[in-house]
Amino acid sequence: MTLPLDHPLMDGRTSGSPLIDAYRSRKPSRRPIWFMRQAGRSLPEYRAAREGTAMLDACLTPDLAAEITLQPVRRHGVDAGIFFSDIVIPLKLAGIDVDIKPGVGPVLGQPVRTAADVASLPPLTDEALEPVREAVRLVVAELGTVPLIGFAGAPYTLAAYMVEGKPSRDHLGPRTMMHADPQAWKALAAWTAEASGKFLRAQLEAGASAAQLFDSWAGSLSLADYEQHVAGASAAALDHVRGLDAPLVHFGTGTGELLAAMRDVGADVVGVDYRLPLDEANRRLGADTVLQGNIDPALLSAPWSVLEEHVRGVLAAGQSAPGHVVNLGHGVPPDTDPAVLTRIVELVHSVDP
Ligand code: CP3
Repeated sequence: MTLPLDHPLMDGRTSGSPLIDAYRSRKPSRRPIWFMRQAGRSLPEYRAAREGTAMLDACLTPDLAAEITLQPVRRHGVDAGIFFSDIVIPLKLAGIDVDIKPGVGPVLGQPVRTAADVASLPPLTDEALEPVREAVRLVVAELGTVPLIGFAGAPYTLAAYMVEGKPSRDHLGPRTMMHADPQAWKALAAWTAEASGKFLRAQLEAGASAAQLFDSWAGSLSLADYEQHVAGASAAALDHVRGLDAPLVHFGTGTGELLAAMRDVGADVVGVDYRLPLDEANRRLGADTVLQGNIDPALLSAPWSVLEEHVRGVLAAGQSAPGHVVNLGHGVPPDTDPAVLTRIVELVHSVDP
């Protein structure tokens, strides 16, 4: 199982890029940086392109998804594109009734709560993923030497939306289910692992040079629950792409206690949220894992002098790890002044890697 020979990682377009060098613990020519949610409402060109098109329709219109993916790369000069899509796209493509409500997030027509609900979930087929592959091909043809990062939601985060049927604060539904009905939970985690794994694989095979698994809500779990009820499914999702030899990043929020467990499911790079300094994350991981992060999104609206000092602190703390890719500690808030993001990119690129 290898990538095609005309893939950007194989034909040399992205294999020596700052992002891939840092992900592979090699010294990059400059400190690479990209932003989670860099494509989105902070950009006026995004709001214009999205006008009149529902979120999931935009994701499944290949030329629109490609254009939105490219916008922040053109504007900010970041070291990677992140594919414009959503973690619920594999659900939608499997035929599940799911939508993204503006200002709310993913909402399902029918929550998935019982063993019978899980058993009736339709499988995601490879054919259904064609709009994803097509959008990735369009993006990669434009990006040239800039790598595209593909992504998927991790089984726990996806299952959390499926069980609750909507966003929630404490994720009581999935956390109860894994103890109250462990068989149903196991089946649901297996279904989401396969959907996520296929979504990742479609993006990597079509031209993405790296992939990130978002376990955004893993921080709501104890380490014991993570290890017993979640880690196996996340590893199973990554099994779909491991052999492709593209760097794999694993990110969640509030995961200071889970970092090593999240690395051990088979990630090359661990994304750290803003709560834990990178030198401490590096210590917890035994100083042998590449890190990504972790500018606090709250500081994007602080005076530049305050933000600059914070960014320099993140760069210094990241120096302790075998590799560091600069990012935020979570996504770009919609009201962020995009000029601030461009200025951060310039600052990071001006500093010795
Ligand atoms: O630059 C990028 O990162 C773009 C690609 C991207 C999106 N969603 C686009 C999007 C990625 C990587 C995601 C992942 C995603 N989606 C996650 C994991 C990352 C994280 O933030 O923790 C999660 C939990 C979701 C589910 C989801 N989708 C939420 C909670 C929301 C916000 C709803 C809202 O309106 O506040 C979405 C919608 C969404 N996904 C938007 C974008 C740009 C906003 C839609 C819009 O512009 O109307």
